Amino acid sequence: MAIFAPVLERPEDIHEALKQRIDPRRVPRHIAIIMDGNGRWAERQGEHRVVGHANGVRSVREALVACREIGVEHLTLYAFSTENWNRPKAEVDALMDLLVRTVVGELEELNANGVRLNTIGDTNALPESCRTTLLEAIAATAQNDKITITLALSYSARWELVGMVRAIAQEVKEGRLRPEAITEATVAERLSTAGIPDPELLIRTSGEHRISNFLLWQIAYAELWFTPVMWPDFRKEHLFQAVIDYQCRERRFGLISEQVTPG
Ligand code: IPE
Ligand code: IPE
Ligand code: MG
Repeated sequence: MAIFAPVLERPEDIHEALKQRIDPRRVPRHIAIIMDGNGRWAERQGEHRVVGHANGVRSVREALVACREIGVEHLTLYAFSTENWNRPKAEVDALMDLLVRTVVGELEELNANGVRLNTIGDTNALPESCRTTLLEAIAATAQNDKITITLALSYSARWELVGMVRAIAQEVKEGRLRPEAITEATVAERLSTAGIPDPELLIRTSGEHRISNFLLWQIAYAELWFTPVMWPDFRKEHLFQAVIDYQCRERRFGLISEQVTPG
């Protein structure tokens, strides 16, 4: 009976208890997260929105460590969308500055934990200092093989899809690709996520129930998990809870239940 269940108070005990409920054979290979709610989190405490972004860095660390602990191979984080360029300049500048400082500050830790850094999105649109820092960090972590963290920066799915259509049109025009030969794989190989398995689980924080132009092709069959928790409050236990919930679902891919679990 629940009343006799041990009371878990230390965060480590809570994490351990949750982790034990995760089936290691059915951990998603790829988790994608729409990190949302930084601005509201800060404003609720009378702080500037930027304070929320700064506090979101710890949550990135927590999500990454949690993923690594349970054997997730890819973690993709929506950090800055194409649409986010239209925010007030001071916020955009602060976000770019935070990005550089975080990547520089975390580099040693990433290497110590076998984390490979990757980006998707129109990184040419980023300020020079960001681009250089990112390229250096990507090169410095290229040999790491425990987990890949992909930051979606100046990313939007429609931007990516337009790029893919242009690439295919060009190849057809030059006679290198026959229209009849175009398959789903042709499309997937021309997206910025080429070579990365589709996310099985997509998490969005802050209580919003929308996709906001993120990975539209790749999430065709992802399980969606929404939480009212604001991104700066996101901790390991939330990641574990999302995975536990994911493992309780029956992924039918268009089949009927008996086909998925015979008998
Ligand atoms: C997510 O938090 C971070 C970015 C989009 C860069 P928001 O900045 O969107 O925070 P809210 O949604 O306004 O609270
Ligand atoms: C989506 O969050 C983009 C990122 C998390 C980077 P937004 O806060 O920008 O999205 P909307 O405006 O709620 O759709
Ligand atoms: Mg938001």
